[in-house]
Amino acid sequence: MDKIVVTRKIPQPFVEQLETIAHVEMWDESLVPMPRVQFLEAIKDATACFITLSEKIDQEVIAASPNLKIVANMAVGFDNIDIDLVNKKGIIATNTPSVLTETTAELGFTLMLAVARRIVEAEKYVQNGQWQSWGPYLFAGKDLSNANVGIYGMGEIGKAFARRLKGFNTNIMYHNRSRHEDTEKALGALYVPFDTLLEQSDFIICTAPLTEDTKNKFNESAFKKMKNDAIFINIGRGAVVDEQALATALETGEIAACGLDVLREEPINMNHPLLALDNVVIVPHIGSASVITRNRMIQLCVDNIRCVLNNQPPKTPIN
Ligand code: DGY
Repeated sequence: MDKIVVTRKIPQPFVEQLETIAHVEMWDESLVPMPRVQFLEAIKDATACFITLSEKIDQEVIAASPNLKIVANMAVGFDNIDIDLVNKKGIIATNTPSVLTETTAELGFTLMLAVARRIVEAEKYVQNGQWQSWGPYLFAGKDLSNANVGIYGMGEIGKAFARRLKGFNTNIMYHNRSRHEDTEKALGALYVPFDTLLEQSDFIICTAPLTEDTKNKFNESAFKKMKNDAIFINIGRGAVVDEQALATALETGEIAACGLDVLREEPINMNHPLLALDNVVIVPHIGSASVITRNRMIQLCVDNIRCVLNNQPPKTPIN
């Protein structure tokens, strides 16, 4: 009989769907990842696995799972999967594109406005009982209206972000591996070299996935090129940013503030230098976290597993 390993607790209706396909072994925690040792044990006789970003699919996992046919990743990003390796073994890998696009763009926008208008600092000020009176420059922030906004990564999420910018009367620039003339026409977005994006943007939003090309793209030299009052937002992947260089840039005033949904190491180490700064807002990788979207992501993983175990093509293959 086929066996499906599910590395996080998911709602019962989804488990029941999976149980109609195969035997299900599910880790019973929603906020704690399945320990690696247990994952390696569970996967030995599995034909499918439903994973999250916390699980790395590498040589050790592949060697431990001779019957594996599909890895269904509950995320659009798939830097946690060694794609060359799964390709070599003929294992199908799937992700969850499209269903999370709008929700993730909304989180990026929320973060951008929250940082621009210093919402988190202001809220702490009220909670701490520091609010004495109205002040002419009390928590004075930065306008989005008429600003130059640079998007790094014009995939589905970058485009959804750009559509939202349109309503805020901004000048949209972008940099991407390839040009998207449809977006240029529809939204008036201007394709620019990476350095121009850095030099001219008042806000920079990174939506890029982690690849060899994007790794450490936002480094010391990039931050030095940015405007001193620029705001940097990252909803792509943490390792696209050199976080030490970012902390230095924020401390020395190379840039003004940042908002991050993703970090190189998640969860954050509480000694992380970024946590000591007031001009930083960090949220715990919740880009796609609306109830409807998370349900859709889980359903897509279930559907992909069902397809593959029924010898049909998956809906959203990566490879
Ligand atoms: C993704 O899908 O890659 C997101 O980062 C997870 O929310």
